[in-house]
Amino acid sequence: MYLQLNSVIVDADATNRQEMANFLGQFGVSVMSQLPSLEMLPAMLSRSDAPQLVIINLDPNAREMMKKVAHLPRQHQQVSFFLMSQVLDPDLLMEAMHAGVREFIPLPMTEAKFSSALERVAQQYGMGKRAKMIHIIPTMGGCGSTTVACNVAAALAKHGKTALIDLDLIRGGVASYFDVRPRYTIADVMESTSTVDRQLLDNALTIHQGSTLAILARPELPEDTQRVTVQGVSRLLGVMGRMFDYVVVDSTMSIDPIYTSTIQASDVNVIVMQLNVPSARNTERFVGALRRMGIESSKIRVIVNRFEKKGWDIEPSEVERALGLKIAWMVPNDFKNAIGAINFGEPVVLRTPRAEMSVSLRELAGTFNGRAGHN
Ligand SMILES: Nc1ncnc2c1ncn2[C@@H]1O[C@H](COP(=O)(O)OP(=O)(O)OP(=O)(O)O)[C@@H](O)[C@H]1O
Ligand SMILES: [Mg+2]
Repeated sequence: MYLQLNSVIVDADATNRQEMANFLGQFGVSVMSQLPSLEMLPAMLSRSDAPQLVIINLDPNAREMMKKVAHLPRQHQQVSFFLMSQVLDPDLLMEAMHAGVREFIPLPMTEAKFSSALERVAQQYGMGKRAKMIHIIPTMGGCGSTTVACNVAAALAKHGKTALIDLDLIRGGVASYFDVRPRYTIADVMESTSTVDRQLLDNALTIHQGSTLAILARPELPEDTQRVTVQGVSRLLGVMGRMFDYVVVDSTMSIDPIYTSTIQASDVNVIVMQLNVPSARNTERFVGALRRMGIESSKIRVIVNRFEKKGWDIEPSEVERALGLKIAWMVPNDFKNAIGAINFGEPVVLRTPRAEMSVSLRELAGTFNGRAGHN
């Protein structure tokens, strides 16, 4: 069973076709075929594996082309048609509407409008995004982002179907924090030509027995990180977003395209810092970058890890002033339980659920799930 929308692109211009195919790939839509004209389209629409979406560029002869496509939406009512044109003439729009065209996209198109149109189609086919996507970003080595990611994911797994993806591709430690040995990794679900289907993904996910959390580990060989692509990651997040209630990503502080697209796809970007100068500086730098990328403040959450009640290098209020953001959460310092959990291969929320650190992490998870973290 495919969890992806299949599409066909019709465009007279080869460069446009390729651009559109790349663009759709980023939204997790697979392209069955790119056609230069309408000629082959009816045959494709009659196949048993017909695409759910057809995107037609009417230009350069928009009116003429409109006449040729007008009968198709009625004949193939299970298919959504998107028409595009630089010509924005009311008659043309009316004609498209009467023909039963789902979306008319004026060119040049706006990415945001196009993606919401895609989301509407995905929803219609029961493939709408479902998961809350939580992206966890460290601001310095060892600040505790993997600890936060693993514990938040383990706690959320009690409330809904949850996956944890290790996107710290070289150094990531998620599999060992849960003491699981994955057979497949994120590098194995990247193939850009084939669609990601459920079976392939099911094989690649390792289920942690104690929590039922589904883990997608980083590649074993550092060389294999080269197989991880931005298109592959975007498609993966799209598909996993339809399979799970929560998708947690343990990440790194980067604006490489793989991470930029993850930042954009996420409902919350959680920035993990400690109350010291280097970490606070990096937090400020990265929050600045997120803002310049157009990420709204409501999607950015700064949390302090290893909080000590007595004494810190810098005042929390100073950090908040510099960031123009409130610190959303503070996880207490608890060296003994934190290191014990890592050595044992089980997150603190599972191993020592009563510890102050575990209560804090569970309640933090509760803020993502919309409920209090009592369990
Ligand atoms: N709240 C905490 N109290 C005490 N120790 C902690 C806490 N959180 C994490 N640690 C410890 O800090 C160390 C680093 O944690 P972790 O691996 O989660 O950090 P990270 O930011 O993912 O590091 P990396 O840069 O390696 O990815 C570990 O030894 C862990 O036990
Ligand atoms: Mg880490």
